[in-house]
Amino acid sequence: QELQLNLEQIEKGGYEHFMLKEIYEQPQAIKDTYRGRLRADDGIIKMAGMEDHMEKFVHADRILIAACGTSWHAGLVAEYIFEDLTRTPVEVEYASEFRYRNPVITEKDVLIVISQSGETADTLAAIKLAREKGAFVFGVCNVVGSSIARESHAGAYTHAGPEIGVASTKAFTTQITVLTLMALKLAAAKGTISRTELQRYLTEMEAVPDKVEQCLQINEHVKYIASLYQEAPNCLYLGRGYNFPVALEGALKLKEISYIHAEGYPAAEMKHGPIALIDEQMPVVVIATRYGHYEKVVSNIQEIKSRKGKIIAVVMEGDTTVSEIADHVIEVPEITETLSPLITTIPLQLLSYHIAVMRGCNVDQPRNLAKSVTVE
Ligand code: G6P
Repeated sequence: QELQLNLEQIEKGGYEHFMLKEIYEQPQAIKDTYRGRLRADDGIIKMAGMEDHMEKFVHADRILIAACGTSWHAGLVAEYIFEDLTRTPVEVEYASEFRYRNPVITEKDVLIVISQSGETADTLAAIKLAREKGAFVFGVCNVVGSSIARESHAGAYTHAGPEIGVASTKAFTTQITVLTLMALKLAAAKGTISRTELQRYLTEMEAVPDKVEQCLQINEHVKYIASLYQEAPNCLYLGRGYNFPVALEGALKLKEISYIHAEGYPAAEMKHGPIALIDEQMPVVVIATRYGHYEKVVSNIQEIKSRKGKIIAVVMEGDTTVSEIADHVIEVPEITETLSPLITTIPLQLLSYHIAVMRGCNVDQPRNLAKSVTVE
């Protein structure tokens, strides 16, 4: 047994939990995922799985995305990226709903399935259905040779390495990395973005690992914030645009490992319900990056403030407006909006991790959850 324990300690590489180790592996995991694929200098993305079937992507009427859990959140981020850059309509579905609701699927649809384990039963069933209807299926998986990778017509692996913590972290950011490269590649093929824009995105992508590293350096500050809210019974997460799915993912992380009830919402939907919950007990995590909807998010923050809610804001370096109103500010490096989920999600992972540890929860193996859900 002692040997077993030591082995586990070695595997954790000096970290207290696998989840923390995996959070810290993200700069490398993201780099491993784009390495060999991204060539910023000549504006080229190499993805054999896509190249062999480029016609399917270019002429697709729609892109459907099916996944579960955190992978579904990566799918939501992908919807924003694909529609924005490629102008191909995208629909994101929970695999469990998609498989049973008799959806319209044609030969001109491309289904992208996303799965860390590559074994999720509902996602596998979604593939089967789409194949029966003649759609082309592309798998984004982490586990090499997994069932989903084998059942798809083609695919691209995330190179996150083994993810042991049940709550997904590096699988999520590497999924977004692959999906972003795919969207950029398709956009270049369709001519919906210029060569210069493509090159700019690729250069920005190459800067992501360093920016994630910068986010990890604010760990102690995030830990301090966690110590103030570890007893909270509820928590709300708000974001807009590309960062709306990040809010959902932030809330899911907190729920999964700390058992605090948390909900993610698009910031503007707050007034249609969740605002009723806000009082001095309620921490609200707001992703308030300086993009198109910034002013609107600021006014959402003011609405929370006037109801005495506690605001934890994720802002970009040098932000002064939100910093004046928020109770706590977490600064992340500046990045183009399209790639921002890769950055803004990091402090939210750390926040949930520290809160869960402080509450004495089993962070790597939360109750009732499984890493791979191979039954319905
Ligand atoms: C389980 C895990 C989640 C994961 C989901 C989908 O619920 O606990 O972390 O996001 O399955 O798994 P997949 O392997 O398909 O990405």
